[in-house]
Amino acid sequence: MTDQTATPRAFSASVPLQGRIAIPGDKSISHRSLMLSALAVGESRVTGLLEGHDVLATAAAMRAMGASIERRDGEWRIHGVGVGGLLQPREALDMGNSGTSTRLLMGLVASHPITATFVGDASLSGRPMGRVIDPLSQMGADITASPGGRLPLMLRGLAPAIPFSYRLPVASAQVKSAILLAGLNTPGITEVIEPVPTRDHSERMLQGFGADLTVETDRDGTRYIHIRGEAELKPQTIVVPGDPSSAAFFIVAALIVPGSDVTIANVGLNPTRAGLVEVLQAMGGDIALLDARTVGGEPAADLRVRHSMLKGIDVDPAIAPSMIDEYPILFVAAALAEGRTTTTGLDELRVKESDRLAVMATGLKAIGVRVEESEDGLIIDGSGGDPLAGGAAIAGHLDHRICMSFAIAGLASKAPVTIDDIAPVATSFPNFEALLASLQQ
Ligand code: S3P
Repeated sequence: MTDQTATPRAFSASVPLQGRIAIPGDKSISHRSLMLSALAVGESRVTGLLEGHDVLATAAAMRAMGASIERRDGEWRIHGVGVGGLLQPREALDMGNSGTSTRLLMGLVASHPITATFVGDASLSGRPMGRVIDPLSQMGADITASPGGRLPLMLRGLAPAIPFSYRLPVASAQVKSAILLAGLNTPGITEVIEPVPTRDHSERMLQGFGADLTVETDRDGTRYIHIRGEAELKPQTIVVPGDPSSAAFFIVAALIVPGSDVTIANVGLNPTRAGLVEVLQAMGGDIALLDARTVGGEPAADLRVRHSMLKGIDVDPAIAPSMIDEYPILFVAAALAEGRTTTTGLDELRVKESDRLAVMATGLKAIGVRVEESEDGLIIDGSGGDPLAGGAAIAGHLDHRICMSFAIAGLASKAPVTIDDIAPVATSFPNFEALLASLQQ
């Protein structure tokens, strides 16, 4: 899964982007579809699954632990082993670049009587796993990690695991989900207390699969999530909506390339994911929500986006969890806006596939943007709509969202922007370049 050969790619000033595209399925929902289907008894069917490397890493791991997963006629069919029925994988689970696969699967393994070794690429092996090691150890899992709580690590699950209550110290849907998934095979009630709400796909989908899961929210917005263990999951038919985090690149592309008018079909707009649209609209972005509907239990709509003169704003840090993966591309929008955009409260960006604050600040400077990096955000003085200088080679640091953000910046630059290696894009958005080309016809 780790690509050793770098494939550089240059992106240049673009003709207006015109037309209609459908983006691939939501990455978070795709991972969870495979995991929960693999724990249900019977056959689940999934359409619209994201077929990127990250999700395929989850599929391979669930197969290695006993599930049958196959793709037939554009549909994925999964026969699960039942909660409690995961088998001992024979080899290390290769998580590639995928933090979501790693952290959620660690949760699943933690309450099964099996041992699994998790390995990943250089980016994933640098990311902190202590945030899941701590709570899963409290539930009884025995975890031996590399120095600093990193991959490779070996996790020996405990069955029955110990139910407990855990208050999330960081706003992380991955940590929340790891504990809920461990709770699935733990006797009694496991509680997660979430002071800052994060994406709620795990809660929605666990309920959809028939788990006994409840959520109570108190007056200050803290969520108390309870899951009753030793659950029996029922197979489901799932339609995965388009990924708002992938749509983000084309939303911003259409806003910053003069003359553009693009419709992006079937974009998931779960409120815990839709922060970017709100922020771009506040910056003056012309984004219309058409045909609002429900897809696979999630709100969705088609988005019509037209070129707009954006204005810099102070982005409220409270919105961060609902657009946490969208900051790199928001920084590109800010670079083309009129005036100053200030972002704060983004410490978590430093532990994503790369240190997204440092990597974006360095790259944006290299293509002529006035940017200042603070401890927890970037301050960007935009060009007022003038093209950026461009003309630099950007290191993507094995981070798909960095690669795609600078690709889009290249479309609004005088000289080409070269990405040192475009391969990481395939982790979440395999047809990114093809869709871009289709809008440039
Ligand atoms: C994800 C949660 C987020 C996000 C990641 C996907 C998920 O990570 O950045 O791309 O599917 O639960 P954190 O939980 O680390 O914030």
